[in-house]
Amino acid sequence: MSRITQTIPRKRLTNIHRLYPMDTTIDAVRSIADAEIILEGESIIWAGPREQAPSMTEGEQLFDMEGAICTPGWIDAHTHLVWAGSRQGEFRARLEGKSYLDIAKAGGGIMSTVREVRNAQLDELIDGGRQRLQRMLSFGVTTVEAKSGYGLSTEAELKLLRAIAALQQEGPIELSPTFLGAHTIPTEHKPNRSVYLDLVCEEMLPQVAEEGLAEACDVFVEEGAFSIEEGRRVLQKGLDLGLKPRIHADQLSAGGGAELAAELGALSADHLEEISPTGIQRMAEAGVVACLIPGSTFCLRQQRYAPARAMIDAGLQIALATDLNPGTTNSESLPFLGTLACLQMGLLPEEVLYAVTVGAAHAVQRADRIGRIATGYQADLAFFAAPDVDYLFYHYAVPHTSAVYKRGQLVWEQPKSSLPQ
Ligand code: NIG
Ligand code: FE
Repeated sequence: MSRITQTIPRKRLTNIHRLYPMDTTIDAVRSIADAEIILEGESIIWAGPREQAPSMTEGEQLFDMEGAICTPGWIDAHTHLVWAGSRQGEFRARLEGKSYLDIAKAGGGIMSTVREVRNAQLDELIDGGRQRLQRMLSFGVTTVEAKSGYGLSTEAELKLLRAIAALQQEGPIELSPTFLGAHTIPTEHKPNRSVYLDLVCEEMLPQVAEEGLAEACDVFVEEGAFSIEEGRRVLQKGLDLGLKPRIHADQLSAGGGAELAAELGALSADHLEEISPTGIQRMAEAGVVACLIPGSTFCLRQQRYAPARAMIDAGLQIALATDLNPGTTNSESLPFLGTLACLQMGLLPEEVLYAVTVGAAHAVQRADRIGRIATGYQADLAFFAAPDVDYLFYHYAVPHTSAVYKRGQLVWEQPKSSLPQ
């Protein structure tokens, strides 16, 4: 009787001008010149300088990466991926002098998207999400956190999360779904907000948990949205049901959201433009990831960006995300936000790279599997036609992505000859 050994085909990606394997700390980002990566199935089995690579094995396939640079697949740790309709009118209204809060008070803002979502079919929501994910993939993004929050009724919140689940099934981008029923109090519940909070805690959250539709629970803690006490109640209920907390915190005013994130051991506190020094300290002690969102600051034409340097100095774990949404920042381009983070927050290009890989992997609870190019990690890889990461952020708002791999499969490709240099 002969023994049949099944071998998984290996792929060797060669001619990588510069590889950024990423380390576990933000101050240790290094690069390897003239590198190779060997993949087996969904995993990386070797990465390093070409001259030290193990020799080719039988059946191994060789791919020429044409001198591109390689980073781990990027992770967008905060998006409102699924919605219906457009709020371009609000973009214009803000240019004409209205503020975000004025627009919301007049019935626009989040509620105008809620009306569109409630009227939308599931398929429409899936189609819109798919198109956005395809654009994200073209920027080298392979994992995306995706929130509900534009339904604000049990039926519509479940519809959004089911659209996210359908997109997860389709792939290739991996999604980390978050329930954001506490995004704002919907108009019909404004006269009695406790009725809405009961609905979120006693009806929506149990159903979301039972159907396994979310990994995390988020709350918008802000004047005009939810108070600290309300946020604590919703997030504690989520925790009891197995959903990890996240918070939209200290975006428009310093409201103690960062401190609440620390108290509850949240995965991340996001925005943080107005965070207090105590908030920074508490988050550092509790190991909460600070998710930076320069896109909303930019689009709302606010003066203050989150104090990223003070956060890094305090030892906070940093992530950088698009916050893709129809109201405050409508762009899938994480590389463009990297340039903004350099110019407006004073991050160095390698710190941005860390924030969209290792830092963001922590925010989506996957740091043991993605965000690095190392033996045993999932083969999620982004290739760019650029000499190094400095160049990616220097030559901004143009595409540089030449190839993207998700779980060892080539999922997006653009010939180097058609990309700018
Ligand atoms: O992250 N801050 C709250 N939520 C979104 C904006 C939502 C909207 O205006 O539609 C944000 O910026
Ligand atoms: Fe957001």
